[in-house]
This record gives sequence, structure tokens and C-alpha cells, in this order.
Amino acid sequence: MRILFIGDIVGRPGRECVARLLPSLRAQHKIDLVIANGENAAGGFGLSPKTAQEILDAGVEVITLGNHTWAQKEIIPYLDTDVPVIRPLNYPPGTPGRGWLRVSTRQGTDIAIVNIMGRVFMDPLDSPFRAADAVLAELADSIPVVVDFHAEATSEKVAMANYLDGRVSAVLGTHTHVPTADARVLPEGTLYVTDVGMVGPYNSVIGAETDAMVRRFVTQLPVRQNRRDQIEGPVSFNAVLLEIDSGTGRGRSIRRIDIIDEPPAER
Ligand SMILES: [Fe+2]
Ligand SMILES: [Fe+2]
Repeated sequence: MRILFIGDIVGRPGRECVARLLPSLRAQHKIDLVIANGENAAGGFGLSPKTAQEILDAGVEVITLGNHTWAQKEIIPYLDTDVPVIRPLNYPPGTPGRGWLRVSTRQGTDIAIVNIMGRVFMDPLDSPFRAADAVLAELADSIPVVVDFHAEATSEKVAMANYLDGRVSAVLGTHTHVPTADARVLPEGTLYVTDVGMVGPYNSVIGAETDAMVRRFVTQLPVRQNRRDQIEGPVSFNAVLLEIDSGTGRGRSIRRIDIIDEPPAER
């Protein structure tokens, strides 16, 4: 089974880029399932029902989230409806939405997608390691499992991947928006990359307007940012293509697909 996992989609440039590239990637690589992180899809912050629908219409089949989950308030009731959108699993019990989802691929194999958030330099959530254990205990039959580990610290991500090695098909890092060059198969067959990256403005500071971000770091003053929807120019598309044995759930290969995409000139 082949799965395409797309890094954090940032604003309109990211959404439009996914819609432009996905049909040909899907055909070229014979992809059975497309997953994308959508935590920055609505103007850079969070996901709205409208932007979620736009991403699903573009061909993404499951959307994961992260620390920006609650930025758009309409997402709260939406996450409790029957949509293929999940938020980090390790929020406190009673939080709206769910942290994992079981779906059928086009090939007919069931697979579980899990979204977990790290704690180092991030919100103080429940232990991501114990949350992973709990969900794996719930999945009594051994179906393939893909984990989006939304985290800042590379050490926490590598530790999680090794903790889950041989128990899940893949652990894929998201959140930093910077793609890492360490895509690999771990000793027990789990596919891993520290960060998938993003689909967002190429000339930017992790998807945000460069001048405003630089000014903020230089002056240490709060700086008003334009919505990330307004950044024109080329778009960085970062994803990974996974090949997983449908029977055993063992990872066979992981490779990066990184494209710098020029949007069409006329709008
Ligand atoms: Fe993000
Ligand atoms: Fe994030």
C-alpha cells in the first residue's frame, strides 16, 4: 500500500498548491491514501470547516492537526461530526473531536491514522508516549498504523519513533515546517522522518511573511502580520511517500517528495 503524507498546509498558497499537484502525483505514484496536516490551512492558523472541505475536495482523505487546532472557533463543533479530521490525541479527556481514525484505503485495506502532540517546548499535554500506548492497546487487530507526531524537539520525535518501532507502520514528524533529510526505515520496520515540512510560501519564515518575522526577532516587539494567504510567489511542497506491507503493517520504504511549485501567473 502506498500512502502520501503531506506536511502542514499553510494558508491559501498551500491549499491551492495541493489542489494543483495532487492529481498528477496520485496517478504517477499509484497512491492508495493521502493524508495531510491541516493545522495552518486557514490563513496560517488552524483549520475552518470551509478550508477543510477545500482540502478534502483536492483529494486529501484524512486531515491531521496540531497546536493550532483551536484557532478557528467553528472547528469545535465540526470535529465532533463525521469528518475525516483528527486533532492531537493527548488533549485532556472530554476535549472535542478525536485523536485517531480508522479508514479504508482505495486498495481495500483498513488503516489507522493517529495524531499525537509532543510536549517539549509545546503545550503541557498528557504524555504522548502513554497516549500512543493507549491507542495501540485499543487497536486489538494489528492493522497498519500511521502516526503524525506533531512536535518541536527533534529528540522527542526520534525517541517516539524508536518507542513505537515495530508497533506502528510509520511515525512522521510535523510542526516545524522545515523538511528534514533523515527519512529512514527503523530496525523493526517503522518508517520515520523527523519533519515532513510544509506546503506553504517558499520565500517566507516557516510560512509567515519574512519582513514581519525578522522584525519581530530583531526588535522583540509584537509585530502585526499579514494573513499568510497574502504571500505571493513560489510554494514549497513537502511530502513523504510511504510503502507499507498491507498484511503485516511493516514499512517497506519512505521517500521524500519535495517540489518548488510556481503558481500560474494570472489569478
Ligand atoms: Fe504547522
Ligand atoms: Fe504546529
